[in-house]
Amino acid sequence: MKIEKPFTPFPSVGYFGPEYFCDREKETETLVGNIKGGQSTTLVSIRRIGKTGLIKHLQHRIRKDFICIYVDILPTENSIDFLNALATAILNSVPEKTNIGAKIWKFIQTLRPVISYDSLSGSPNVSFNVQPKESERHIENLLAFLEQQEKPVVFAIDEFQQILEYPEKNMEAWLRTIVQQLKNIVFIFSGSQPHLMHEMFANPSKPFFRSTVFLQLEKIEASVYQKFILQKFTDAKKEISEKVALEILTWTNVHTYFVQLLCNRVFVNSEEKVTTEIWQNVAQKMLEEQQALFLGYRNILTGEQWKLLKAIAKEGQTYLLTSKNFVQKYTLGSPATVLRSLKSLQKKSFIYKQFDEKGNAYYSVYDVLFQRWIQNQY
Ligand SMILES: Nc1ncnc2c1ncn2[C@@H]1O[C@H](COP(=O)(O)OP(=O)(O)OP(=O)(O)O)[C@@H](O)[C@H]1O
Ligand SMILES: [Mg+2]
Repeated sequence: MKIEKPFTPFPSVGYFGPEYFCDREKETETLVGNIKGGQSTTLVSIRRIGKTGLIKHLQHRIRKDFICIYVDILPTENSIDFLNALATAILNSVPEKTNIGAKIWKFIQTLRPVISYDSLSGSPNVSFNVQPKESERHIENLLAFLEQQEKPVVFAIDEFQQILEYPEKNMEAWLRTIVQQLKNIVFIFSGSQPHLMHEMFANPSKPFFRSTVFLQLEKIEASVYQKFILQKFTDAKKEISEKVALEILTWTNVHTYFVQLLCNRVFVNSEEKVTTEIWQNVAQKMLEEQQALFLGYRNILTGEQWKLLKAIAKEGQTYLLTSKNFVQKYTLGSPATVLRSLKSLQKKSFIYKQFDEKGNAYYSVYDVLFQRWIQNQY
């Protein structure tokens, strides 16, 4: 796997190797331990915390000893898409020129797919012209092939909750049966909708119940991220104080994607020294750029949902959504209305539920920029 260099030391999309990756040491160790013990893992967190990054980081580290496959199934809608995504991921996981790579190519070609090439990246795309029933057999064949390889396989399926959307209702049960039989393949099932993932893997009446160990990914510790930020600016001969790095982390709620996004922009827009004024100007500019998008939220939400979203954004972390105080302060109608709006806002990924260190549940807005934008309004 050839890794290119990012434009700044703070990429906000993709994985560029350990040098640009902050921490996650404990989590990586846990995953390595699970894999060596033949245990599959369910990796969950709210969105944009760094699940995909962690999987890539892990696979980068163990790639010499394992065949590492990564597939994101978010774009798939049925078992045939799933088959195509799996086959494409398998084909792209190992270079064709290697021994195993050549074997994989040969095997996939025996299944007679159509292979096309991505016009931008040039990477191959596999698609099968089959009926849903046949797709299951093909998936079994692909996994059986991997099962026979000398090297063990780490197969990461990202956005796994997507299979719940397939019209084929037996998918979970069927997949569980196959997965259970594999000895040479360890899976990482990752998902960004914690409630759906918990339902699939922690509900005793569901096929995947207790088939994996859970790894809940939390935010990176602020002090660790702070050191990382200092290091990256210093390496590039830019001066930044601990205080300024902490201000950036506080403003972005230490939410990985937003930290990267802001640091990236600050990096580009600064000379030798990064000051509070510089990062605040950059942040302000980012909010202005997003204004149309934020106002657009109003059009896709009902009046009640929009009001609740704004209220939660203003609060930052909201604990008692249906308390008299909160409902009155933001004139939200009744607790029942709040609960109804809450449900759709959660479903549409506008807000998320988290627990603090004391185990108390709170709600926050996903989009840190939206939260800050609202907070700046009258
Ligand atoms: N440990 C890290 N250090 C530095 N950057 C990171 C780290 N983890 C993730 N990132 C960056 O943050 C961005 C968001 O992370 P990532 O896509 O992994 O989150 P995710 O939890 O998979 O999000 P989603 O739920 O939306 O799929 C990534 O594009 C990556 O650039
Ligand atoms: Mg992801």
